[in-house]
Amino acid sequence: MITLITRSAIETEALGEKLSRLLKKGAVVAFVGDLASGKTTMIRGICRGLKIQQQVESPTYTLVNEYNGKVPVYHMDCYREHRIEEWLELGVNDCFYGDGITLVEWADTIQELIPKTAIRIVINHRIEEENCREILIRASGEQERDLKQIG
Ligand SMILES: Nc1ncnc2c1ncn2[C@@H]1O[C@H](COP(=O)(O)OP(=O)(O)OP(=O)(O)O)[C@@H](O)[C@H]1O
Ligand SMILES: [Mg+2]
Repeated sequence: MITLITRSAIETEALGEKLSRLLKKGAVVAFVGDLASGKTTMIRGICRGLKIQQQVESPTYTLVNEYNGKVPVYHMDCYREHRIEEWLELGVNDCFYGDGITLVEWADTIQELIPKTAIRIVINHRIEEENCREILIRASGEQERDLKQIG
């Protein structure tokens, strides 16, 4: 696990871009963190790294946004929909176990569906300093070793 501190949205986005280089086809990144902690911001950076041209915003009505970059990228937000059956019906397992890259906000909501191999990111506000965030990144196996490159 690595822990990093960022002091602006730009820094968090840059961290996401760096992380994107570690993501292979089939990767899943599960984000947890309070409202406005920076999950979407970091995802924007990942998407920039994956050469996505489309605007990256949290999916609202659709629940899953699909972007086309170097590989298909699925952007999910579980804040509003907690029903596991709904997610299954939407076909999230095709995202999780397919050849694209899946980025999930509020992933703890559907914890049981998140693959064991997912990279897990927790973003916390640091109350003592405005615009400061503590970012924990946890991975397993080969990805764990790769993490050292960005730490
Ligand atoms: N160090 C930082 N990292 C990320 N965002 C920051 C940082 N400092 C300030 N911000 C601001 O915090 C906000 C983060 O918003 P963002 O939409 O990325 O959060 P979120 O976790 O996706 O929120 P939500 O829970 O609503 O999905 C933005 O307004 C951003 O400019
Ligand atoms: Mg968001």
